[in-house]
Amino acid sequence: MRRMSQAPEPLTDLPPWRAENGTPAPRRVVRADDTLSADSAYRLACEGTGLLWQGDFHNARQLLQALTRRAERKPRKISKISKAEEAGPATHATTASLAAAAAQNFHLHRQALGQRARTLGMVLVPLNGDYTIPLRRAPDLRQACTEAWGPATGEACMVSLRELLGLVGAHEWRKKGLEITALGDAPNNRIRPHYGVFSPLRGEYLDLVATTALPNKTLAFDIGVGTGVLSALLAKRGVQRIVATDLDPRALTCARDNLKRLQRIDKVELVQADLFPEGQAPLVVCNPPWVPARPSSPIEHAVYDEDSRMLRGFLSGLRAHLSPQGEGWLILSDLAEHLGLRSREALLGWISEGGLTVLGRHDVRPRHGKAADTTDPLHAARAQEVTSLWRLGSVA
Ligand SMILES: C[S@@+](CC[C@H](N)C(=O)[O-])C[C@H]1O[C@@H](n2cnc3c(N)ncnc32)[C@H](O)[C@@H]1O
Repeated sequence: MRRMSQAPEPLTDLPPWRAENGTPAPRRVVRADDTLSADSAYRLACEGTGLLWQGDFHNARQLLQALTRRAERKPRKISKISKAEEAGPATHATTASLAAAAAQNFHLHRQALGQRARTLGMVLVPLNGDYTIPLRRAPDLRQACTEAWGPATGEACMVSLRELLGLVGAHEWRKKGLEITALGDAPNNRIRPHYGVFSPLRGEYLDLVATTALPNKTLAFDIGVGTGVLSALLAKRGVQRIVATDLDPRALTCARDNLKRLQRIDKVELVQADLFPEGQAPLVVCNPPWVPARPSSPIEHAVYDEDSRMLRGFLSGLRAHLSPQGEGWLILSDLAEHLGLRSREALLGWISEGGLTVLGRHDVRPRHGKAADTTDPLHAARAQEVTSLWRLGSVA
């Protein structure tokens, strides 16, 4: 790539902006091609200038990789107190300040990720109205775009290359699927997540649901169905009827696809609802997003639960939806506690305010690679994480 000698002229006649992750269009966009050096591109991207690619598609990918390397060179800010937390257990007096420092660390980390995403999102590509890409050596991404965005509307647009590659990643996951050993033997144990739907990548919580004794097999509610993995698991365990809810239509479509393929759909009724369906059940299962933070885009609603809205809603409404002797199963990691975002006292307070009592708790340590990654800025919290299945009943 050669260097550009002059500051590029901003483009005025631009196609409409498309961003599923909710980021606004760059305020200034310039034409970019194979003559642009990675350093110039990085400087422009850091300033918030969009680079509408006109050259070879593969070179655009290489440019994005070069920008990613530059963005990763930036030092990460980690608070000193969080480092101190790694050194050993806190005394009572320091607990509150450690929690505040851990929370600050988490917010700084998210801020840095957000800034990095904004910079890397400045490499833009044009997209035709039928989702073809009018660039040399461009791949055919029509299927990936249709899966994520729905059928093409015929309107051309521009989109960030990073988002487009994210759609390709989601398409590959959907095609390949995730093997869920708790669902039985291959090949009928794969869950295929759709774009924007929470992927059950962490098998340990599924093992908790697969092994905890069922209070009753007649009926269960699955609150926040996502891919449908928990409904499939409960059906496999012999629960005769399951009513599963989600707010997100994408999740409901995804769950329907998975449950059909796994031949469990005859047992499951899918309902678009805020938390609970009508009525009561002897088992009500919920795996809310584990981190109480503001989602930075619509597709993050499955990962972040702002102000613990779903968790608190589940705990305050559960009692009214439990049959006599029924059990609520809350699946929750304590990562938020180690990140200083929620205290154990708050969780226990919400349980008791909901007229609930803890019947038992099964704990498991995470097995995923991040838990052992000492270079992860959130390592101190992740290293202590425990995921639990809380068995809750109504106070007599
Ligand atoms: C962490 S995911 C869990 C998905 C799935 N149950 C699992 O265990 O893999 C949480 C799900 O709850 C859904 N959700 C969030 N708020 C909700 C609400 N108020 N009512 C129903 N579903 C909700 C999200 O769309 C998401 O699919």
